[in-house]
Amino acid sequence: MYSLNTYLTGIVLMSSMNQAQAQAHTSLPYFADWPKIVSVVKKTQEIEDAVKNLVEKMTLEEKVGQMIQPDLREVTPEEAEHYKLGSILNGGGAWPNGNKYATAKDWAKESDKYYLALERAYAGRGFRVPFAWATDAVHGHNNVFKATLFPHNIGLGATNNPNLIERIGAATALEIATTGLDWTFAPTVAVPRDYRWGRVYEGYSEDPEITYNYASRMVRGLQGELEKGLASDKVISTVKHWLGDGGTEMGVDRGENHYSEENLINIHAPGYFSALTAGAQVVMTSFNSWHNEKNYNVIGNDGYNYKLHGSKYIVNDVLKDQMGFDGIVVTDWNGHSEISGCTSGNCPQAVLAGNDVFMVTARKDWQTFYTNVITQVEAGIIPMSRIDDAVTRILRVKMRAGLWDKPQPSLREHAGKESILGANDHRALAREAVRQSLVLLKNNDNTLPLKSTDAFLVVGSGSNDIQKQTGGWSLTWQGDENEIDRDFPGATTVLSAVQNLVGETQVFTDPDTAPEGSIAVVVMGEDPYAEMMGDIKRSKTLEYSNLKRSYAADLALLKTLKTKGFKTVTVFFSGRPLYTSEEIMLSDAFVAAWLPGTEGGGITDVLFNESGYDF
Ligand code: BGC
Ligand code: BGC
Repeated sequence: MYSLNTYLTGIVLMSSMNQAQAQAHTSLPYFADWPKIVSVVKKTQEIEDAVKNLVEKMTLEEKVGQMIQPDLREVTPEEAEHYKLGSILNGGGAWPNGNKYATAKDWAKESDKYYLALERAYAGRGFRVPFAWATDAVHGHNNVFKATLFPHNIGLGATNNPNLIERIGAATALEIATTGLDWTFAPTVAVPRDYRWGRVYEGYSEDPEITYNYASRMVRGLQGELEKGLASDKVISTVKHWLGDGGTEMGVDRGENHYSEENLINIHAPGYFSALTAGAQVVMTSFNSWHNEKNYNVIGNDGYNYKLHGSKYIVNDVLKDQMGFDGIVVTDWNGHSEISGCTSGNCPQAVLAGNDVFMVTARKDWQTFYTNVITQVEAGIIPMSRIDDAVTRILRVKMRAGLWDKPQPSLREHAGKESILGANDHRALAREAVRQSLVLLKNNDNTLPLKSTDAFLVVGSGSNDIQKQTGGWSLTWQGDENEIDRDFPGATTVLSAVQNLVGETQVFTDPDTAPEGSIAVVVMGEDPYAEMMGDIKRSKTLEYSNLKRSYAADLALLKTLKTKGFKTVTVFFSGRPLYTSEEIMLSDAFVAAWLPGTEGGGITDVLFNESGYDF
């Protein structure tokens, strides 16, 4: 009873967030069991009837087409028409025609091709099923040239400001709308519990309460109210990765989770409870496993490796039945292939477990998967009722999103409006987020705030390195192969931010030419990484200067500056907390700046504190 009461209190507080004067922070209730979610998006008879009517008319092939989601690089509009595909995604670093510099118009035109392909596919059928395009807009519309890149979630967590999160969601959704896409794979509500995990920065916090307070706000910012369809400046949101991705042993990406069910619920699931209450329509299944007796194999009992993609318990019994989620469960990038007994092209287990849309990315695999699902239905391995459930959910979400009423992507209200990408007010918002995300770890003798009348030596591997500043999932998948002016016009590094503030003539980049009394601003940090690549292997410690040979150069630089008598302010970019004792000892002031994104001006705003922006 105690838990039911605290749970209900939580729901009351969460739904009161719908009011404009939302209470920003809610304390996280204790959950004795998986809660029943009361979503703000209600089932309507009209939509349910219309969906049922369509599902009755659709052929098995048409239904399975809705369930397949290839990667942009592995599909053509002609194939989309032929297979009657329900959606595609562009994976990290996938752009229209492979062009990194594709404009908003180019994206919308590419989206048109698929939209029109599906219109043709259904011509003469007496009904239509519109197409949808999903993207990873995880810190702004980050796959798109000129977009505003907000701090990665770890930095947003450090702001402890749920209102800010909703505003960022809204700005991101508008930038997505300019490219004619419908759907984002965000927010990530992982609660990372081991800093060795290469995806720590994608989670808001290791504290589930922050994630709980943020998830609903990000969903509202991205999707809006979703009562009368999706507004022209909104997109469908996805909560990911269900479940326990932040709790794998030793922080191994796609690894093993051994949490008790009670801790899984209360540490790793709270973000879903608030996001789904706020109306999130899609949940993405996670690559990791969950080692628990309750997690059973759908087909037989031999050698199941407990992968979530095959977990009927977590996907169907918990999420759909107990929690009452009526939206789409999408698999992660060929995640089904990691279930024991499966391959990318063949995995009835994943269908039976309750996944609805299958992110089968490579051409050969999605085509095989498509054929196999059809055969498996005909052979009675997959019941038709399971297919109908999947398709009902897909069509329900598409209908709630108003896709039947939307014109082709390039004709939508905001489509092709280049000036919205990286718009001044979005950059200002990102800069505000950067200011709030900074964490001051040391400030001896009031080294900070800095004075703009001084001369500065701005050095260190991160001082003018947009890759270190933006991290993974930035134009490219791993956030590498990027250069400041070419790939991020309009972005500000710490070097350019200091130059803007104090004037170029007062800024030096060589310790030997910097005038006597110059203050050193040393910017250093991790190189960018995304999933898999960012894990710190068990043979390594979390010590910054030992992780990579190149970091030793930053440490050596700090030592040199100390010998030369510079007063030093270190700005540290990282996707996770790291041991930086030596670096801190050698600095007079030290700031953890996480992965701030394109707006380096937010850092100097606080370092100089000329407009009352204190830490
Ligand atoms: C894609 C990413 C994806 C990854 C998974 C990459 O090629 O671009 O979006 O997450 O593969 O392995
Ligand atoms: C990642 C997801 C992402 C997907 C599509 C996967 O590998 O785990 O977070 O949404 O790729 O890029």
